[in-house]
Amino acid sequence: MLKGKTALVTGGSRGIGEAIAYKLASLGANIAVIYAGNVTAAEKVCEKCKQDYGVEAKAYQCNVADFSETKETVAKVKADFGTAQILINNAGITRDGLLAMMKEEDFDAVLDTNLKGAFHMIRHMTGLFLRAKEGCIVNISSVSGMMGNAGQCNYSASKAGLIGLTKSVAKELAPKGIRCNAVAPGFIATDMTGDQTDNPLLKMIPLGRMGEPEDVAEAVAYLVTAKYVTGEVLRVDGGIAM
Ligand code: NAI
Repeated sequence: MLKGKTALVTGGSRGIGEAIAYKLASLGANIAVIYAGNVTAAEKVCEKCKQDYGVEAKAYQCNVADFSETKETVAKVKADFGTAQILINNAGITRDGLLAMMKEEDFDAVLDTNLKGAFHMIRHMTGLFLRAKEGCIVNISSVSGMMGNAGQCNYSASKAGLIGLTKSVAKELAPKGIRCNAVAPGFIATDMTGDQTDNPLLKMIPLGRMGEPEDVAEAVAYLVTAKYVTGEVLRVDGGIAM
């Protein structure tokens, strides 16, 4: 279904990003894994994409919060793969804390990675999309960005910002055949969430369980392949934000 296409997945070396890389590879896309620091994990994801799904895959170390680094990385991907048609902005961090005590650097770090990081990648990829006359962007937001969450003012602001970014990009680039959507996951079992067995919030999930990274990857694959869907925010949250 995506044979011959190339997808960049930021934060693709573990968790939700890793599951997205495998899902898109299983549909035939070549994969550029953008990772922050763990080269071994990133190489492992690339090997699995190549061996299990027969696609091309390559890892690129890049801090998405850095404008010039993201520009150089996109240029490297272009040199290696020719072009790219799919961008998944998945890289994200948390620096949770109560508003009254939150340090400025914790607010900035989360906004710089989660929101500006997505802007950087979209900004640099748009040239490729315009030349290819096609493009598809999926931003990984969060139900925190839709509902708010005490102790996460920085994270919620970044994820709400991603929804605004998604809709503006969708409107601006739709005439050029470029789509932009977002997925808003709820509680997903990854390193980011850690051990949640005793979290009372779990009882509030109508479907009665945490999500798996693969649940998010399914939604991403849908948005990548749904040719008439743009500007959408798809919740993957077991119903918690209903
Ligand atoms: P994770 O912590 O396992 O993975 C995040 C990835 O982003 C890591 O590979 C990390 O190295 C990468 N990353 C962080 N900062 C980076 C930077 N500056 N440059 C490049 N890469 C960077 O987390 P998880 O759970 O897989 O999260 C993936 C995305 O899903 C994040 O955007 C997160 O906010 C979002 N999300 C996760 C939820 C969950 O319950 N796990 C719920 C809602 C949204």
